[in-house]
Amino acid sequence: MEENIAIFETAFVTADFRAMDTALSKDAHAHLWPTPRTKAYRKDYVAQVSAYEPFAHCLRNRFFLDYMAQLTTNNEIEMLINFGCGFSMYPFLLPKTLGHIEIDMPNTIAFKEEKVVHWQKTGVLPKREIRFLSADFNTDYAARLKDKILEIKGNKRCFILLEGVLFFIDRNDTHVLFQLFGELQQEGDYVGSVSFPKAVENSSAFKKMTTFALERLNANEKFEYQTVEDHFYATLPKYRLLKHEHTLSLANLYAPERPLHSTEVLDEHMYILKKY
Ligand SMILES: C[S@@+](CC[C@H](N)C(=O)[O-])C[C@H]1O[C@@H](n2cnc3c(N)ncnc32)[C@H](O)[C@@H]1O
Repeated sequence: MEENIAIFETAFVTADFRAMDTALSKDAHAHLWPTPRTKAYRKDYVAQVSAYEPFAHCLRNRFFLDYMAQLTTNNEIEMLINFGCGFSMYPFLLPKTLGHIEIDMPNTIAFKEEKVVHWQKTGVLPKREIRFLSADFNTDYAARLKDKILEIKGNKRCFILLEGVLFFIDRNDTHVLFQLFGELQQEGDYVGSVSFPKAVENSSAFKKMTTFALERLNANEKFEYQTVEDHFYATLPKYRLLKHEHTLSLANLYAPERPLHSTEVLDEHMYILKKY
């Protein structure tokens, strides 16, 4: 029988995608997360939505990994704060000098912390400086989370990552998140964000994805997928848009030799912002 998954479990599927081409994603630890149940779901998703989804997620991870690695090497950032981190493995892929705050829903973050602590103890993963915080971005969480983050981060220069999350939350909750980023960050700090612009709704792959989500994703009543225009990023107070890529531009950059049927690619957009 076909099994559905909940929003927090989508993180198993993205980890599985990253594990499928580690030469591209550079995520050598992604294979630790998928389960037989989420692998079966991933197979259905790839068959029914887009055969390019593993490729797209490997590209996305590689892009942010390379960008953040460069900033770390240049001493521009000292901490990565990953909002809706899921099972991303950046702490173990980036230089060990970087500190990390991982944030996700209570279920996900408790599970991730338990596993990561165990794998560090048993030598499966190297030791890293990581703090785990829980928050549900659909609730009134911002003031509490802000205090906790500031206590851990102090004055450290940071990169805030919001990857694979905006699709699942609404515009009000998005504004609360970006307001919080502005309050947490100082001049020179960075935000990396991922979303779909509205125009992507017309592609065959996106239509298949929303149909699949409707049938196979157990979401709460509040869930209505969100798209975000470039304009949102270009007009955020106190942030300058530094870089804008999308799946097809990254494919061209990292794997120009691979043949692509572009309307079958879920063309996600990636933005890098810098606070001034
Ligand atoms: C598709 S996964 C992406 C995970 C990770 N960022 C990545 O790129 O692999 C979506 C993540 O967003 C988190 N998420 C979705 N809605 C959320 C909410 N309301 N509050 C906190 N986290 C949320 C989920 O728990 C999940 O880990």
